[in-house]
Amino acid sequence: MKAKIIGTGSYLPERVLTNFDLEKLVDTTNEWIISRTGMQERRIAKDDEYTSDMGLEAAKRAIEDAKLDAKDIDFILVSTLTPDYIFPSTACLIQEKLGTKNTPGMDIQAACSGYIYALNLAKSFVEAKIYKNVLVIASDKVSSIVDYQDRSTCVLFGDGASACIVSGEADREGLVIEGVSLGGDGCHANLLQLPGGGSRNPATVTTIENKLHFLKMSGGEVFKHAVRCMAQASKECLAKVNLTEADINWLIPHQANLRIIDAIAKRFKHLPTDRIYKEVVQKFGNTSASSVGIALDRLLKEKKIKHQEKILLTAFGAGLTWGSAVLSCLGEKRYG
Ligand code: ACO
Repeated sequence: MKAKIIGTGSYLPERVLTNFDLEKLVDTTNEWIISRTGMQERRIAKDDEYTSDMGLEAAKRAIEDAKLDAKDIDFILVSTLTPDYIFPSTACLIQEKLGTKNTPGMDIQAACSGYIYALNLAKSFVEAKIYKNVLVIASDKVSSIVDYQDRSTCVLFGDGASACIVSGEADREGLVIEGVSLGGDGCHANLLQLPGGGSRNPATVTTIENKLHFLKMSGGEVFKHAVRCMAQASKECLAKVNLTEADINWLIPHQANLRIIDAIAKRFKHLPTDRIYKEVVQKFGNTSASSVGIALDRLLKEKKIKHQEKILLTAFGAGLTWGSAVLSCLGEKRYG
């Protein structure tokens, strides 16, 4: 039995931050941001709207889409790099808000690769028959760790959440998770990190003065690794499930930068441009762990996915971490 995704959901906050708004905050221009990233705007959560609130909303939508009830959920996995607290886990906060009774859950941290890492864990739980319905949530309030005086990072990120139900229920249509390939390389941990607030640099007046509680990134270096790692993970994952690039019908790369997406898309020469999902990066910026999940949810709700069509997800993030997953559509598009 292979695990499948039987429902998806996503949530984006209402508040819009445009490139023109950013022009008023830092020394940048709409033209620079569009030409270097493809981003036009992004969403920013309200001050009192947290990672758990966004994750909860995406989760409710995924549960409804799967035609399940919260009580059918056996395990909750939350992927985030901006948890409400270091502890307790955001999974526990969402469990309480969902109203499921004594459902176990935990957070996992794989930065922007988090959705695919969580998908792999959920698949393992389901295929080992440990749990039947696993709720996967990826949610990030990246705006809470962005320095809006640093033009090299503040233009890139937005807030958002996505979710899906990974299930072992028989007789359900859905997206079969054919295979997942993950990778990691801590040698480059310094390229993208949040230096303050952990056990190495606990919060002090000095860490705050030195802005260690804001995300730091070497953009150019990250760019090169992102293209290389996502291409490598995709190749490995396709080989694992005995497919080639020509078998893929839809490509959803991590929505970090339009130029990164275009570099990866070059490897899928047979795919028409409308089969490569780019809309999330343009409208919502880099929403971290939730990015591929938001794109998948929107793709499923906007386009017709035919029986046996294949979707390739690929993501990359701090760590470094990376991963790809091949999904195969069982039944026609609307599987909820
Ligand atoms: N507006 C105007 N100028 C800017 C801005 C800005 N917002 N930001 C940087 N610049 C300037 C730089 O200071 C530099 O000026 P200089 O030449 O005088 O020194 C110039 O623009 C070029 O800077 P580069 O960094 O070389 O620009 P590049 O073309 O590499 O684009 C970018 C920068 C967009 C950050 C790109 O490197 C990128 O997208 N990198 C990958 C980022 C990414 O994917 N991060 C997320 C990973 S996933 C996760 O885990 C969160």
